[in-house]
Amino acid sequence: MVAMDSVQKWFGKLHVLQDIDLQITPGEVVVVIGPSGSGKSTLCRTINRLETIDEGVIAVDGQELPKEGKSLAGLRADVGMVFQQFNLFAHKTVLENVTLGPIKVRKHSKADADRKAHEQLRRVGVDDQANKYPAQLSGGQQQRVAIARALAMEPKVMLFDEPTSALDPEMIKEVLDSMVDLAKQGMTMVVVTHEMGFARTAAHRVSFMADGRLVEENTPNEFFTNPQSDRAKDFLGKILEH
Ligand SMILES: Nc1ncnc2c1ncn2[C@@H]1O[C@H](COP(=O)(O)OP(=O)(O)OP(=O)(O)O)[C@@H](O)[C@H]1O
Ligand SMILES: [Mg+2]
Repeated sequence: MVAMDSVQKWFGKLHVLQDIDLQITPGEVVVVIGPSGSGKSTLCRTINRLETIDEGVIAVDGQELPKEGKSLAGLRADVGMVFQQFNLFAHKTVLENVTLGPIKVRKHSKADADRKAHEQLRRVGVDDQANKYPAQLSGGQQQRVAIARALAMEPKVMLFDEPTSALDPEMIKEVLDSMVDLAKQGMTMVVVTHEMGFARTAAHRVSFMADGRLVEENTPNEFFTNPQSDRAKDFLGKILEH
């Protein structure tokens, strides 16, 4: 579903993605974990072309990502993304936030888009908030709306970049629960998170990233109990102390 082959990216002199090979099969859930600045967000952003790459190939569902143009909008719509900051439009209602993409990009009728938006909002448990504005919702509710908004585009892959790290502790669980449900329903997912509970429950694979490289890949259980590289051991030592 996602294939990254020998991907290289530089920010000026910084070699931020170094020879990345990552193959993700349909329905697979991959958790990407690693120190701050290791390139996790950049990796996610290249998968839906918010960032360009300098060398290598990225394909989604067998189609190589085009450099630009109209086909890019279509392919980008196939990859849903949820960020740490929810990025909802403040002056639009929850329902309008969720229907905007399907109407503008997918060319759905308003009636169709409304019906499907309610479906997705129900799926993440916030349909009762549909007519409110984002500021009237809790952080956890806003993040679930952001998930519903991404799902309403009927993406083939969902990317999550630290979706719970801006949330108060009591709201983290409701967001992670929605993500676990999504994983169980067979969504292909790339999730940058340090939530080990999520990784253990939902991930098929953990990819450990350090200094722009994918250093180590393993099942969650193996990775957390028996890390191989010194970088991974050092990193896990630090996050487990918290
Ligand atoms: N637009 C940019 N221009 C220049 N350098 C950038 C840009 N975006 C990121 N970087 C640099 O690239 C490196 C990787 O950044 P990235 O945000 O991908 O790391 P990360 O693993 O997501 O870190 P964190 O865990 O803190 O979110 C960092 O050194 C960062 O400063
Ligand atoms: Mg990041």
